[in-house]
Amino acid sequence: MTNKDRILSFLVKNKGSFISGEQIANTLSISRTSVWKAIKSLQSEGYSIEAVTNKGYSLSKDTDVLSVEFISKYIKDDINELRLEKHNSVSSTNNIARELANNGEPEGIVVLADKQTAGRGRKNRNYFSPAGTGLYMSILLRPKFSIEYSLFLTTAAATAVSIAIEKISGKITHIKWVNDVWMDGKKVSGILTEADLSMENGGLDYVIVGIGVNVFEPKEGFPKELSDIATSVFKNNETKGNIRNRLAAEILNNFIYYYRNLEKKTFLPEYKKRSFIIGKNVTVINNDNCQKAIALDIDDNCHLIVKYENGKIEALSSGEISIKL
Ligand code: BTN
Repeated sequence: MTNKDRILSFLVKNKGSFISGEQIANTLSISRTSVWKAIKSLQSEGYSIEAVTNKGYSLSKDTDVLSVEFISKYIKDDINELRLEKHNSVSSTNNIARELANNGEPEGIVVLADKQTAGRGRKNRNYFSPAGTGLYMSILLRPKFSIEYSLFLTTAAATAVSIAIEKISGKITHIKWVNDVWMDGKKVSGILTEADLSMENGGLDYVIVGIGVNVFEPKEGFPKELSDIATSVFKNNETKGNIRNRLAAEILNNFIYYYRNLEKKTFLPEYKKRSFIIGKNVTVINNDNCQKAIALDIDDNCHLIVKYENGKIEALSSGEISIKL
């Protein structure tokens, strides 16, 4: 842990109260100059730390600092298979989780970051990941069940996210097949699952479930190309303070329950209930080919059953659909 991280955790523990530079320096056995430099650096990263002569430093009560300590506080007692690590800035939490997997780390590591400089979405798209306003996390798993069941990890994750957002915000979410979580007609969360096969047993060596949620509005707003299709759980005048930690824990609580019971598909009723495209006119996009259809149902394998204009019925296992609301 760097001095900066140690100072941040100290301030988080004392959120809302003033702590003198001397007290921080003594407690952490570092110089007061190091404290000052670290505080400056934290402030430049956007942490709201007030500095008052003769009183010291105080991290604003409303600061939504992502912290392993806080997330752990909200993780259910019977979940002890997780090991959380939080970074200030990474290229992509999926990249870090992949490195850990390739180094032989066991399942259960959860990589979180306050910011991603090269966040990735499906189909090689960029995933907009500004500092302080989103939740970016990747869970490393080494599933024992067959690849067939692993396909449900993404849908289970989307269900876990949808339920968690509703619990924390009190707002309604929906799932757009296959795994985007929507709120107010726009996307609020996306999931990127990446896997590697084991040469020894022909099964999966590891799976990384990467989850991104737009929790608060980005300080500069969404970029132009996203403003019509993306939204955030909370708007700027709404509540702050520990939201991302509670949301991360809630997602993990839900997801681990579904993961432990994946072969029983316990997520499925909630997944189907939240899918809003059943009965709607959709466009099925397959490479450059677009076909109009009606979405009839989602079956127990999470396939989307569509009926094309020519009457042909097809079960889609993956791919992209567009829908006009
Ligand atoms: C999508 O909507 O296309 C999927 C977006 C997935 C974004 C998450 S954020 C955490 C993890 N790290 C990444 O680079 N991507 C995923």
